[in-house]
Amino acid sequence: MTDQPISEATARPNVARMYDYFLGGSHNFAADRAAAERVLEIFPETGVAAQTNRHFLRRAVRYAAAQGVRQFLDIGAGLPTQGTVHEVVRTVAPDARVVYVDYDEVAVAYARQLLTDVPGTAVVQGDLCRPDDLLTHPDVRATLDLDRPVAVLLLAVLHFVSNDDDPWAAVARLRDATVPGSHLVLSHLTLDGIPPELAERGEAIYRNSSAPLVPRTHAETLRFFTGYDLVEPGLVETTRWRPDGEPELVNSHGYAGVGVRR
Ligand SMILES: C[S@@+](CC[C@H](N)C(=O)[O-])C[C@H]1O[C@@H](n2cnc3c(N)ncnc32)[C@H](O)[C@@H]1O
Repeated sequence: MTDQPISEATARPNVARMYDYFLGGSHNFAADRAAAERVLEIFPETGVAAQTNRHFLRRAVRYAAAQGVRQFLDIGAGLPTQGTVHEVVRTVAPDARVVYVDYDEVAVAYARQLLTDVPGTAVVQGDLCRPDDLLTHPDVRATLDLDRPVAVLLLAVLHFVSNDDDPWAAVARLRDATVPGSHLVLSHLTLDGIPPELAERGEAIYRNSSAPLVPRTHAETLRFFTGYDLVEPGLVETTRWRPDGEPELVNSHGYAGVGVRR
């Protein structure tokens, strides 16, 4: 991408593009890189933590597919990166259907470019905090059958939703729209155990970006699984969720878990 912001929107650090930078991607602008570098000064492990989150996505998606789930709703999917959900799941379930959702127009535009010729996938611009709009979106309805189990993926997205917007209600609405046997795959930033002054410096950077950063405790994150049975090993530090031998080098600053709807 060019270093020249093409609009006012690109002059402001954007959380989707900062994450792309942490992952080593090229879909980011100067403002995103500058903010991301400031985060890296405080938390140098952020890039590895982002990779750790992507590893969890791969393990959890394969797990859900092994349980027979063939439909995936990836909300806050972000900019396309290596190992997207359909690429991962179709190695074990070639018939799997995947809807990618993000509220960021740049993320959606790039995802559409990448996926135009991929049958059984759709890219939808939508807001997690407006679950009814999402659930009734024609492309969601055309791609997913909500009368059959769906894995709802909420990876590294809920920590961009403030408590005032009640992310627990949004997750509960998604749960109620799915049938028993559906899965919730979730990862969430925590700054548990981090000195408060460091946490505050990190959060301050995001206050000037497209979304606030809202780290949560284990108990707050666990509440998202209301109505789900957590599979072993429960809601744990991301690297500890069913490791499969991929090297995990760092504390991810994240909790991760998979639940099955009762
Ligand atoms: C850190 S990225 C995570 C990307 C991907 N899920 C992953 O874990 O690798 C967070 C993404 O969530 C999106 N996002 C944040 N709040 C959202 C909301 N309320 N509705 C939809 N997408 C949202 C951002 O635009 C960004 O692309």
